[in-house]
Amino acid sequence: MSHSDNSAASPRLVPDEMLEQSGIVANCRMNRERTLSGTNGYDTELGYNPFDLLLSKLCPGRTVGWLDLCCGSGRALIEAANHIQMMQLADRCEVIGVDLVGMFARETADQSCLKLVTASLTSWYPNRQFEVISCVHGLHYIGDKLGLISRAASWLTEDGVFLSNLSMENIKLSDGRPVKKIVAAELRKCGLVYDATRKRVFCHGRRQIELPFRYLGSDDQAGPNYTGQPAVDSYYELLIA
Ligand SMILES: C[S@@+](CC[C@H](N)C(=O)[O-])C[C@H]1O[C@@H](n2cnc3c(N)ncnc32)[C@H](O)[C@@H]1O
Repeated sequence: MSHSDNSAASPRLVPDEMLEQSGIVANCRMNRERTLSGTNGYDTELGYNPFDLLLSKLCPGRTVGWLDLCCGSGRALIEAANHIQMMQLADRCEVIGVDLVGMFARETADQSCLKLVTASLTSWYPNRQFEVISCVHGLHYIGDKLGLISRAASWLTEDGVFLSNLSMENIKLSDGRPVKKIVAAELRKCGLVYDATRKRVFCHGRRQIELPFRYLGSDDQAGPNYTGQPAVDSYYELLIA
């Protein structure tokens, strides 16, 4: 199936600029308030507490950074920044959150180690590398999910860790071929790990990735995914036989 000769049942694919205006991509029904740990916590959703991972990378003479993609209200980061201030590590730890919607929870007093950025991750680039990059239930709303995963892997330090929720049901191949095995295998060839049971993707260490998929556009009318919330299907052309 090519998208120029879609059948009537084929979805209307929208480009990223239009996707960002969609009520599916940012809305008040989303869970944007997760904390660092606990039942509504980043550690539960990722299997690791990103702040603990960040601290584990600290060693004498090193400054470390945690980047949270699609950070929502930024609560988890604000919590981490409070710990960093209390531990007097503000000059050695940096936490940065990026979200399309600049509705961040209120920061407390002095949080010089924290930056909350309003931007779209389709065009935002950092000016440093990170020991930890997380994306908690954010990729469900990104158009070019595989592109963002590739960019995030290139933003890691040599020993950095990228962790994200990823639902293969929200990735579609234009020729209708089953995605799960093909995409997971291509991610694996590039050194990433996909945990199909927990629907999470991991990358350990910086990688320059070229996945054999061309992004075609997204369907914001795909309906709910495993989270129960409406998500965005991302369509790709597979560039290998
Ligand atoms: C389900 S919320 C998760 C928020 C946060 N990670 C949490 O768990 O509390 C998904 C977030 O992705 C953000 N988002 C969607 N598309 C984005 C884009 N293109 N760039 C940056 N953020 C985006 C939305 O604004 C929303 O805050």
